[in-house]
Amino acid sequence: MAFNKIWCTVALGLLLPFSCAHTDFFTSIGHMTDLIHTEKDLVVSLKDYIKAEESKLEQIKKWAEKLDQLTDTATKDPEGFLGHPVNAFKLMKRLNTEWGELENLVLKDMSDGFISNMTIQRQFFPNDEDQTGAAKALLRLQDTYNLDTDTLSRGNLPGVKHKSFLTAEDCFELGKIAYTEADYYHTELWMEQALKQLDEGEVSSADKVYILDYLSYAVYQQGDLAKAMALTRRLLELDPEHQRANGNMKYFEYIMAKEKEANKSSTDSEDQAEKETEVKKKDYLPERRKYEMLCRGEGLKMTPRRQKRLFCRYYDGNRNPRYILGPVKQEDEWDKPRIVRFLDIISDEEIETVKELAKPRLSRATVHDPETGKLTTAHYRVSKSAWLSGYESPVVSRINTRIQDLTGLDVSTAEELQVANYGVGGQYEPHFDFGRKDEPDAFKELGTGNRIATWLFYMSDVSAGGATVFPEVGASVWPRKGTAVFWYNLFPSGEGDYSTRHAACPVLVGNKWVSNKWLHERGQEFRRPCTLSELE
Ligand code: OGA
Ligand code: FE2
Repeated sequence: MAFNKIWCTVALGLLLPFSCAHTDFFTSIGHMTDLIHTEKDLVVSLKDYIKAEESKLEQIKKWAEKLDQLTDTATKDPEGFLGHPVNAFKLMKRLNTEWGELENLVLKDMSDGFISNMTIQRQFFPNDEDQTGAAKALLRLQDTYNLDTDTLSRGNLPGVKHKSFLTAEDCFELGKIAYTEADYYHTELWMEQALKQLDEGEVSSADKVYILDYLSYAVYQQGDLAKAMALTRRLLELDPEHQRANGNMKYFEYIMAKEKEANKSSTDSEDQAEKETEVKKKDYLPERRKYEMLCRGEGLKMTPRRQKRLFCRYYDGNRNPRYILGPVKQEDEWDKPRIVRFLDIISDEEIETVKELAKPRLSRATVHDPETGKLTTAHYRVSKSAWLSGYESPVVSRINTRIQDLTGLDVSTAEELQVANYGVGGQYEPHFDFGRKDEPDAFKELGTGNRIATWLFYMSDVSAGGATVFPEVGASVWPRKGTAVFWYNLFPSGEGDYSTRHAACPVLVGNKWVSNKWLHERGQEFRRPCTLSELE
């Protein structure tokens, strides 16, 4: 992998605006912006091609017109025409050389420049995996933010600068991707949207018969037999010979008849039991639901009484000489677990430097596989990240010192500064930053103990979505450029604080940049002394 990257940079770095082809474009906007430039270059090259083709056609037209006139005159009186010696000479010349030249012009390929440009750039285009990834991101956003299909298709999102809508064909494509994932719920939503847009008269190459075929199957899979039949009937009106639809119709009728039979003999008590389990399901809110609600800014679990005890203050890092004269602004974000936010804690220039250092190194973020202890990519963590060492830039080193001064914790045992970029749909589902008891090997190679605390810089505002949420305690922290949040993952006893379970919500509109520092246990023995129990 590393070898590949180097090879690409050396061989093609000169030709391309970005250093190498990676898959997973969709995971970060940082890399996708390169594609925007690539596409712009291609448009320029395509327009050059059109110009060349037009000028060629212009020359051919002129020749045709000239010869049209000449041959008109000549055919009217061939002998008289050839009686002029210059005409005789010119006829020889035209037929012997000029027509040949014209032939060459007609055959001349003007598309050279464009095609070779295209061939080079194409190797670095996103692939099927990227397209599917981007589509799945849309579906994920739809669920998390409760977006209605029509709203999403018309591009009516909060805070968007460049409105864009989906065509019936795009909706069909999304439905197909959901279908291949056996996600019949989204298949139905998107096939229905495609159909709706066609019914409203949208001109499209999408075919209603195909759409109805997918739609009726998705509806059937979700158990709505009557609707599946109605849709199949509609399909058959458009295409009475459709083989699968005819087969399905017969099958649906058979199932329907059988169900009616069974219904007659079923008892009321069974229905009652079914209803009861349904009620139970509603009472219990799984983590996923809590996470999504918090992402939408719903379900915050703060009481006015507790809220009153959250303050803001100027903080001097416990009389740290560097902050006595210029203390920093600190706000309490949450009480339990205690989460504090520092304001104006990283400047725009520092943010730019950190982003520039990270950009060429961004790669798909990984997680620890608890079974193998190895790093792998996971669908629940969709972002790109890079690590920056304090040795490579005075800015990074200065940032590390700032974290040490303001937390009072030793940063020499911390991990390097991690920079992460989340594209649209980018997220990190609920997780703990610390290693649990059942995974003692999580940070073994570092030899600095568990992750005692997390410091997280927000390096961008996010137009919509992208909050950091704590589903256990019902807290949401919204990104604000130039601020940072800090919390302890471990109690002073060294036990993990399970209330710190948190997640990065999917970005709905915009682009999210964060950087974080994970501080470790070693080195903190005198800075944050251990206690025997959690409560001390
Ligand atoms: C992390 C994390 C939160 C966020 O990277 O571990 O929890 O909002 N990030 O990016
Ligand atoms: Fe985290």
